[in-house]
Amino acid sequence: MIPVSKPFIGEAEKQAVMEVLDSGMLAQGPRTAKFEERFAQVCGVKHAIATTSGTTALHIALLANGIGEGDEVITTPFTFIASANSILFTGAKPVFVDIDPETFNIDPAQVAKAITPRTKAIMPVHLYGYMCDMDALQAIADQHGLKIVEDACQAIGAKYHGKAAGSIGTGCFSLYATKNVMAGEGGMITTNDDAVAEKCRMLRNHGMKRRYYHDMLGFNFRMTDLCAAIGLAQLDRLEEFTAKRRANAAYFNSKIESVITPKVKAGYDHVWHQYTIRVDGRRDRDAAVKQLNEAGIGTGVFYPVPAHQQEYMCEITGEVKLPVAEQLAKEVISLPVHPQLSQADLDVIVAAVNQL
Ligand SMILES: Cc1ncc(COP(=O)(O)O)c(C=O)c1O
Repeated sequence: MIPVSKPFIGEAEKQAVMEVLDSGMLAQGPRTAKFEERFAQVCGVKHAIATTSGTTALHIALLANGIGEGDEVITTPFTFIASANSILFTGAKPVFVDIDPETFNIDPAQVAKAITPRTKAIMPVHLYGYMCDMDALQAIADQHGLKIVEDACQAIGAKYHGKAAGSIGTGCFSLYATKNVMAGEGGMITTNDDAVAEKCRMLRNHGMKRRYYHDMLGFNFRMTDLCAAIGLAQLDRLEEFTAKRRANAAYFNSKIESVITPKVKAGYDHVWHQYTIRVDGRRDRDAAVKQLNEAGIGTGVFYPVPAHQQEYMCEITGEVKLPVAEQLAKEVISLPVHPQLSQADLDVIVAAVNQL
């Protein structure tokens, strides 16, 4: 089976972990600081703050932006559940709006319509490594005085008109094992705002600035130096990884004819965390998945149930109808696009998809 994702674990990653083990200093320390410095450079921002996961990054990034009880945050339902959960963790309410069927991302026109006096922030999710229409979202945020917390968990290295994911609002990244840059588990917050950065640093470490003096209620969301060492080794290869993903996606787009392939608009640099095809509404997606799996192709369905249709979420947000997201949830299939695919793998995938 060609796996849908495959973490790259090379000699550099192994050696980096062994060095941390040999040092005897396993918790957050100098490797984490170095990883934060390098990550900030990659995103072109002043600060990067490492955490335990993308989920905890989103959670404290929202808190640091002043989001809490009684607030509303407008977001997409077509995402991993952590985006919406992080809003709930702060005491705020997610308000789901529909997406653009071409990009799979939040539709700015729907965002504008959903604003109420309680709206405090917009959380765009750069799904599959493809950035949202940030100029339109920024204009709405400026007009209404809203914060932007970018869920860039899938989008390290992606750009929108030359601006990096995570450099526009407060950015949040996941370093989960299957991400384009991984650390096993981990998260990162990026910002140019000194006050937000300081608050995130305090929130991840029990509200401390000075050891054992606690200025606020905080968490233990600290990254270990073991994870940071892996992440640092991975960052060295980010450009190479991204170039390979782009070449794989371009090959698929030139060869796949049987289904709807993902298109990229001018001005966007996609990093292809996922390469996601759509069977059209008349075809049975689950049968197509079965056929691909039987041909030895690993697949993913991201995501079969949009956030607004998860049972516990409905109880909180009430029933909402979002037809585009609901339709796409029935049509999407993600194919392997990771950097470790060989030309033979690509050809097997194209042949199997064209058989659908
Ligand atoms: C869009 C999105 N948001 C949030 C997360 C949460 O990140 P983590 O799994 O590192 O907590 C993920 C990770 O899968 C994600 O893909």
